[in-house]
Amino acid sequence: MRYTIQFSILACVAFVIACSPAKGDRTGHEYMPDMTHTVGYEANLYDYYYYNRWGTEAEYKKFVNPRTSVHGTVARGQISVANAADGAARMMAMQAFEGENAGSFAYTPNGSVPYYYADTEEERARATKEITQNPFPITDASLAHGKELYIIYCGICHGDKGDGRGYLVRDEDPAKGIVAGIYPAAPANFMLDTFTRANVGRFYHAIMYGRNVMGSYADKLSYKERWEVIHYIRSLEAQSKKLEYSATANTFNNEATPWAAMESAMKKEVAPMAADTAMHEAMGSEVHMNQH
Ligand code: HEC
Repeated sequence: MRYTIQFSILACVAFVIACSPAKGDRTGHEYMPDMTHTVGYEANLYDYYYYNRWGTEAEYKKFVNPRTSVHGTVARGQISVANAADGAARMMAMQAFEGENAGSFAYTPNGSVPYYYADTEEERARATKEITQNPFPITDASLAHGKELYIIYCGICHGDKGDGRGYLVRDEDPAKGIVAGIYPAAPANFMLDTFTRANVGRFYHAIMYGRNVMGSYADKLSYKERWEVIHYIRSLEAQSKKLEYSATANTFNNEATPWAAMESAMKKEVAPMAADTAMHEAMGSEVHMNQH
């Protein structure tokens, strides 16, 4: 009996020591190392641990490293390069892909393009100033697709005409059977000069981050789709000014507006924005859920 107790105490001590953690220059002990270090090869993770490996270190390294793709694999978006008939055609396709031909634009194979502006008002102004070109050409297809996306994602608030009177916000009109809008803040009216004269960066930034009660649409629209929506907004703005913005003509030349004029127009909007922010705060958590 006495020995049994002594033995159990010893076993407990041994167990505790066996699991002592690493500290200072002591490496510590592990009880059942295969619980800590997986025996399986983990792709893209080099964590060779000599105790419980089936193979040698060299073999381990080989298996966890990324493999080269199967011969003949074509990166997404590069099919025109792969299908080119000869060297000259391949060169043309490659140049188009890299945005080196007139009217073309660089486009990453996975369709994702990084955005280097932060979600602040200063950065909104910087994006408005610096992003002056829609990288996609105006085509009938891009305008049609832009319209479709705009109606789905923006028109409900900003209105099918872009005048800020989408069905979620428009006023009650019982005679026409229109019930009062349920969205509490006024969406931007793209027909105002401050928007018609702003560079496209202002729209792109708004899609990426939203503003106040408007949430981001970056996860709903791909890079290309964002610019298609902007093409469509531009065409609505042009229409309201009796100008043309289409595949054949573009008389809607917002580049003529100097930045100083754009900036001062944006600054003048501070008042309504502050009102929106106050409403935003007054509404509390409900709006936060809306935001992202
Ligand atoms: C749920 C309603 C709602 C939807 C949907 C919506 N917006 Fe907005 N948007 C707003 C509101 C409200 C504001 C005003 C925010 C403010 O200035 O406080 C706004 C502001 C903007 C602005 C002006 C930002 C600035 O620089 O002042 C742009 C541009 C814009 N939205 C574009 C879009 C686009 C493009 C879409 C579709 C992808 C979209 N919005 C979808 C509600 C919405």
